[in-house]
Amino acid sequence: MKRLLLGLIIITSLQSTAQQSGDAKMKLYVDALMKKMTLDEKIGQLNLLTPGGGVATGAVVSKGVEEKIAKGQVGGLFGVIGEEKIRQAQELAVNNSRLKIPLLFGSDVIHGYKTTFPIPLGLSCSWDMPMIERSARLAATEATADGLNWAFSPMVDIARDPRWGRIAEGAGEDPYLGSQVAKAMVVGYQNGDLSKDNTLLACVKHFALYGAADGGRDYNTVDMSKVKMYNDYLPPYKAAVDAGVGSIMSSFNTIDNIPATGNRWLLTDLLRKQWGFKGMVVSDYTSVNEMIDHGLGDLQAVSALSLKAGLDMDMVGEGFLTTLKKSLGEGKVTQKEIDDACRRILEAKYKLGLFTDPFKYCNKERAAKEILSDEQKHAAREFATKSFVLLKNNQGTLPLKKSGTIALIGPLANNKANMLGTWAVSGNRDLSIPVFDGMKNAGIKEVNILYAKGANISDDTLFAKKVNVFGTRIDIDKRSALEMMDEAVAVAKQSDVIVAVVGEASEMSGESASRSSITIPQNQKKLLKELKKMGKPLVLVIMSGRPLDLNWEMENADALLFVYHGGQEVGNAIADVLYGDVNPSGKLTNSFPRNVGQIPVYYNHLKTGRPQATDKFEKFRSNYLDVENSPLIPFGYGLSYSSFSYSDIKLSAASLNTTGKIKATVTVTNTGNYDGEEVVQLYTRDMVGSIARPVQELKGFQKIMFKKGESKEVSFTIGVEDLGFYNSDLKFVTEPGEFKLFIGGNSKDVKETTFKLVK
Ligand code: NOJ
Repeated sequence: MKRLLLGLIIITSLQSTAQQSGDAKMKLYVDALMKKMTLDEKIGQLNLLTPGGGVATGAVVSKGVEEKIAKGQVGGLFGVIGEEKIRQAQELAVNNSRLKIPLLFGSDVIHGYKTTFPIPLGLSCSWDMPMIERSARLAATEATADGLNWAFSPMVDIARDPRWGRIAEGAGEDPYLGSQVAKAMVVGYQNGDLSKDNTLLACVKHFALYGAADGGRDYNTVDMSKVKMYNDYLPPYKAAVDAGVGSIMSSFNTIDNIPATGNRWLLTDLLRKQWGFKGMVVSDYTSVNEMIDHGLGDLQAVSALSLKAGLDMDMVGEGFLTTLKKSLGEGKVTQKEIDDACRRILEAKYKLGLFTDPFKYCNKERAAKEILSDEQKHAAREFATKSFVLLKNNQGTLPLKKSGTIALIGPLANNKANMLGTWAVSGNRDLSIPVFDGMKNAGIKEVNILYAKGANISDDTLFAKKVNVFGTRIDIDKRSALEMMDEAVAVAKQSDVIVAVVGEASEMSGESASRSSITIPQNQKKLLKELKKMGKPLVLVIMSGRPLDLNWEMENADALLFVYHGGQEVGNAIADVLYGDVNPSGKLTNSFPRNVGQIPVYYNHLKTGRPQATDKFEKFRSNYLDVENSPLIPFGYGLSYSSFSYSDIKLSAASLNTTGKIKATVTVTNTGNYDGEEVVQLYTRDMVGSIARPVQELKGFQKIMFKKGESKEVSFTIGVEDLGFYNSDLKFVTEPGEFKLFIGGNSKDVKETTFKLVK
């Protein structure tokens, strides 16, 4: 043991010596380079542009990009897609600019690159961290094979408001789960070594609190106590920093009334001083300029404010490029502030190995071999099956019998345009497998599949126009709603079971896609109501980019599979699950509200002074006259074709002290007829604290495969650090006292025990 320890110490100290000598070499290199740089060239490095041509991800695109590159006025580009185009742009930088400094090439590689995986919110429902890490690894492999070296991902904003369209891009409502996902993604992208040609610089975003916009309206104000920030919203960003993320993107929103991009407390005091972040910070798209509209001054003022706050790179707005020199002359910024920002960008380039070989990611052979490979395609299918959440399954409606006639109905049943989901800027919609094709691909001869569209995604032409900004997602049929419905009913009449594939178009969520109603569009609901009247088994497959109000659906469907937007292989994956070749194992990572009025509804809310004892209304209690407090579907919920039972919890001791650990064990048994995976979840409740504490907090989970009939002991070790929190002085503390501990298959149906933390 001692020898092992000694070995470990030697390896760690060798690693840190290697790191130190690596850092020293980098410093020497960057120092020498910066000595040669003019002020203009330094400011040029702080400029990130997008020449357009690809999918627009913001309202403006950059002009005169080639000329600016040659003049040394550009540090990086994004939105340039393809090995060849990237090579050309890099050639401009290294052949035509005075100091030949290579460019960074970024992109929104959000859920896969050219091969599109399920949207991040869907991926998070897998609760499968190795899988999520692999999804980022595969995305990095593909993106780097196509010339990219920087991914604007992971998005780790905690989101508890399904009205907000960008909830689709994150991992849901929980800080613990969100932190695990953040770490897995960073490790997947960077793989601990940025010098490789198949890893890239990750960029955690949007720092910070972007998911808490008032009213769920995108780009809106965020106003939050520091205690809530530290305990609930900041942990995933911090986890990404701890995992070594190389860059951070500031968010559009204000924090304490100061926009994040110009917020010195956020970008310097917290991020660099408290958390020790050493990488570079990039603004979001024109978020420097947007501070003018926030009312913080003109372009020169907001650019100076941002630089002084700790921002290194200005995305698209060119405020740094056009005003910093003047600000330096007027003493509004310092040379050191410009140098520091420039240094961090050059260091990122150095770590990526761009100074050694600016074309290391431009490799035609790799591109041909690794992009859209079979491995990627298989992974897309596997990831999708694991992301689906079975919300209802009455009397074994699913899996479907592999015989008889299936009526496949709905605007998303045979649709390629909406399978990829939001933020699939490099994905190809034509490669999508619609559900109809997936069901046919299963090749079950005894099954007859009939199809009818049944309804448009929405009948509202104005709404469709807003959604269709990147191409037609809502395709309004020439036929009337009645004609489509009649056709669907006629098809359903001939069937043994109806499978209705309904929900949201892909661009009904994502950036600038907030909704004040979170039901499926009414015309689709009308279709479902007609189908319900037929009295046949009704299976709903619901696609969406956000949690929805599923009241009617949960009550009326015989089975409901919630799939978010499942990526390009979704049709095959849905067939895998509907036919029972894959047993669903996803669990929700957001509480699903009963209606919009309940929002925000999340499981880990604080205790109130007038809590409700049950879900029934009581006068002078914290509740509503017209709806229960509880969500319609709790956080962590998801069924399997099998069922699992949980024994009571055994604890290794009744208490732990501040240096100790406690082990909680349950026996979980697969009591059903299928092999299947279960996500065993551990929660705690701190009974008494110096501040009000949440009623429940996720502290651990394990995704485990159980053969049918199999029992396994599942243990969690809880250390004192798991019980800590940020107190009102924002100090991380652990306070002795009583705790409840819960273990179960979701946040509500749990076994419970208590233990004590003693001094
Ligand atoms: C704006 C979005 O907020 C951000 O997530 C994205 O990375 C940039 N645009 C670049 O496309």
